[in-house]
Amino acid sequence: MSILFRHRTGWLSALLTLALLISFGSRAQADAPKAGQVAASKRVKELLSAMTLEEKLGQLTQRPGGMRSDDNPEVARTKLEDLKTEIREGRVGSLLGAFGAEYINDLQRVAVEESKHGIPLIIGNDIIHGCRTTFPIPLAEAASWDPTLVERSAHIAAVEAAASGTDWTFAPMVDICRDPRWGRVAEGSGEDPYLGAQMAAARVRGFQGRDLRAPDSLLACAKHFAAYGAPEAGKDYNTVDISLATFFEVHLPPFRAAVDAGVGTLMSAFNEINGVPATANRFLMTDILRRQWGFEGFVVSDWTAVTELVAHGYARDDADAAALAIHAGVDMDMTSQAYRTHLAKAVDEARIDIRTIDDAVRRVLMGKESIGLFENPYTDTTLHDKVILCDEHRHAARESAGRSMVLLKNEGAVLPLNSSVKKIALIGPLADNQRELLGTWASIGKAEDVIAIRTALTEAVGDGVEVAYAKGCDIEGGDTSGIAGAVEVANKSDVAIVVVGEAAGMSGEASCRSNIDLPGHQLELVKAIQATGKPVVVLVASGRPLAIPWVAENVPAIVQIWHPGVEGGHAVADVVLGKINPSAKLPITIPRNVGQVPIYYAHKSTGRPPTDQFFTSKYRDVPWTPLYPFGFGLSYTTFEYTGMTLSQSKMKPGESITASATVTNTGKVAGDEIVQLYIRDKVGSRTRPVRQLRGFKRVSLAPGESQTVEFKLTEKDLAYWDNKFGFEAEPGEFVVWIAPNSADGLSAEFELIEQQRN
Ligand code: BGC
Repeated sequence: MSILFRHRTGWLSALLTLALLISFGSRAQADAPKAGQVAASKRVKELLSAMTLEEKLGQLTQRPGGMRSDDNPEVARTKLEDLKTEIREGRVGSLLGAFGAEYINDLQRVAVEESKHGIPLIIGNDIIHGCRTTFPIPLAEAASWDPTLVERSAHIAAVEAAASGTDWTFAPMVDICRDPRWGRVAEGSGEDPYLGAQMAAARVRGFQGRDLRAPDSLLACAKHFAAYGAPEAGKDYNTVDISLATFFEVHLPPFRAAVDAGVGTLMSAFNEINGVPATANRFLMTDILRRQWGFEGFVVSDWTAVTELVAHGYARDDADAAALAIHAGVDMDMTSQAYRTHLAKAVDEARIDIRTIDDAVRRVLMGKESIGLFENPYTDTTLHDKVILCDEHRHAARESAGRSMVLLKNEGAVLPLNSSVKKIALIGPLADNQRELLGTWASIGKAEDVIAIRTALTEAVGDGVEVAYAKGCDIEGGDTSGIAGAVEVANKSDVAIVVVGEAAGMSGEASCRSNIDLPGHQLELVKAIQATGKPVVVLVASGRPLAIPWVAENVPAIVQIWHPGVEGGHAVADVVLGKINPSAKLPITIPRNVGQVPIYYAHKSTGRPPTDQFFTSKYRDVPWTPLYPFGFGLSYTTFEYTGMTLSQSKMKPGESITASATVTNTGKVAGDEIVQLYIRDKVGSRTRPVRQLRGFKRVSLAPGESQTVEFKLTEKDLAYWDNKFGFEAEPGEFVVWIAPNSADGLSAEFELIEQQRN
């Protein structure tokens, strides 16, 4: 008999299972009010009874609000007046893309003082990895495996964005991605649901803070609900066709973690899932999110995702699309205007029950109330200059960037550079670049604020060391004429640092790549520099894992620096010169080539796991292992793992088991190690991944120092989706690893035994 760890009430389970069996969604029709909702406050009740249907639909409508245009001030002025008219008439409840406290206060004044009900606007923006102080891209920060650090970055982003008039961020993006071709891999936390869930919760805590009404917090939005990170062929917006088990075990956990951390809103995704677009998916947004998880906030669609239901072939026209989306549980329509154009008619025709509209309006108004907008709709305009890009924020961005850089290789201890180095050749298209280090979705981040690597390194090494720079080639494009000059610079140096990778715009929304090699002629540049015989360090600045097999094979030192943000240059100098000892670990597998994709550590065994035997699961032209596995990352010191023990060899339901191992710093400098805990369920009634991450801990060790690291495992850690609506742990044997990465470590085994019934 299986062991349940999460309760399932009988009727709910039956209902949900039925929903699951019938379809992943259901067509809209007049429906009863949804279950599991927060009661309206007195104010919201009064508003609901006073508002017309058109005004209610206005609250469900989000419009672009960035009407200022330096190119054509006249057009901008007219657009702004039109927008103010819409606000005054109660036809808009929310704006996105509006920035600046004075500008937003001006619009807010129209809503609060000139509209009939005085309902404030809620201003949403994409504050993804910092506001003006741009932090490393989220994928990079996930490499820190440090929820506290990630929480702090999100908090700082909130401080700056709130001071600029933003109330609500469309972040965190918690989509799990196992395909680095997908451009939005940069925005998430990588391939693993456990790590992803930790990061999701940390970011929600950071954005929302302890008090949502505080002037330094933002309402957060977990997006894109759901499975947006699993498009076929890694192509943005593409079809998602996955098993429900994968959906529940891999893609939903970070959303669940965000909901459990109190996230105020979710965003419905662009993609379809198994035939039903997320934005019309009632199973997703009502059955799972609200009924099963008890989510009480509101859901916003993605940009025009409501009317895109027509292109999906799911809605007949925009009116049908609006009805389907509101019925599914999308409360606010981001920019398509289908709600305010068509839903009144749908109510008149009894296709949509007015109570469905009221539910959505209540959730939106309660969201506004939760952040104190009714009491305090305006932004204090004196805050901005005090907080934006202040020293404290820059300092935090530098620390985050340093902690996110993954040391992939360091043969012959080329890094950190030692005092015998007097001449550094700094080469590559990203070595003296500011803009690209910001990465995708850099909000109001400005290139001019970025500390370039060349600037920081030159300053950090001081007068006694020369930093000679050559660009070598562009990031993309065919010009190779600079390579010879770069070789000359390298020839005159003691060490060459080559900074290669991607431009910011090569990852992010709609920026997928069918080829994940170094773009342009950068590999040729690296090869030419390596041929000089000088010690070479390659820094990879990118928004995704890049396939760099030649570099990995031939170049002695490699650091994955990602797109590190505004303090990227300083952080690189800190790492290269040893002021920071790298501790980051990969949050995503690095493949050898794009043909291996999707490649991830938590894969299934198959009946023919790869071996040297011919008839096994592998390619004939590339090893079956990745270039670098998930969880991998080196340090300037070395760590040894010994003495793996389990507190018991058998575990009963309700009990826990403690796994421990001793980690020793066997090198010459102090360092941090991120110790990882993996499990494998050896036999399952549905096959289980070869490994699954179930814990991690950072230990800081002086040279020679040891620490015993303990992890407690409970049934919950052993459970998996039960094909119905719960998660269950099955009796049987489990392997546990305490490991430096997903391909290594010490292991032990135990058995989960059945509860004996009297
Ligand atoms: C993206 C969302 C984003 C929204 C608003 C969409 O294109 O998919 O992630 O929040 O635009 O900018």
